Amino acid sequence: MRIAHISDIHANYGSDFNNTTFEKAVKLLNGFEADLIFISGDLTTDGLLREYEFASERLAMIKGKKAIVPGNHDEKNLGYKLFPEFFGNTDFIRYDGNLTMIGLATSEPDKADGRLGRNRHRLITRGIEKKKDLTIIGFHHHLVPIPNSGREHNIIEDAGETLDIILRNNVPLVLMGHRHVPYAVKIHNTLLVNAGTFSCNRTRAHFGNTFNIIDFKNNTIIVTVIDVEKGKQEKMVKYNPLDGCYINRYYTEKKRID
Ligand SMILES: [Fe+2]
Ligand SMILES: [Fe+2]
Repeated sequence: MRIAHISDIHANYGSDFNNTTFEKAVKLLNGFEADLIFISGDLTTDGLLREYEFASERLAMIKGKKAIVPGNHDEKNLGYKLFPEFFGNTDFIRYDGNLTMIGLATSEPDKADGRLGRNRHRLITRGIEKKKDLTIIGFHHHLVPIPNSGREHNIIEDAGETLDIILRNNVPLVLMGHRHVPYAVKIHNTLLVNAGTFSCNRTRAHFGNTFNIIDFKNNTIIVTVIDVEKGKQEKMVKYNPLDGCYINRYYTEKKRID
């Protein structure tokens, strides 16, 4: 199985959105033929109706099944009322074969901060209890500090409680966005993965526009970062939740990931 993890599209008529990059990224993305495309929020910049229309029209270029959660930008200016009209429920549990995908809105209207709260914690628990072979949780804000993204702010307010539920239940994979840089780290038995920005001009230093391809092969999760501009692929993490074997090129740079 293959999941594409994309984030922070920022469809906008101002300076945020780069259409040339978007089209290049979509071409690369469609070539991977992912079974599911998870979009971790910030599809728009100001949550405006014409941005939602633009995002929806642009997203139609992406082939395949999509699961989408809102980001803080999507909830601005009453955008939280538009999100369900265009992209469906902001919080959901989807069962697909052996996969349970739990999508959650961490954002709140007109605030940059993220939080989940007790109701969404209960939704996580409900999804986990189904005990499918693979449970993936996805939301917009980051649950742990992300390096190379500037001074820390907007981490999920109830990150402690959220992380505790996730770690206690050995959820193998959590997908996040918001910080516009790719990253991954394993804590206990959980791999926490951040996607960079797909098509926003607000990139960080040399990170550029990226998205993640996540492959599940022989009980192993392999996360590959795709650099849109260079068309380059770099395997970032390999993790086997069964035997705990974990290679992360961020921290073990000399190791190859085949
Ligand atoms: Fe963003
Ligand atoms: Fe964001």
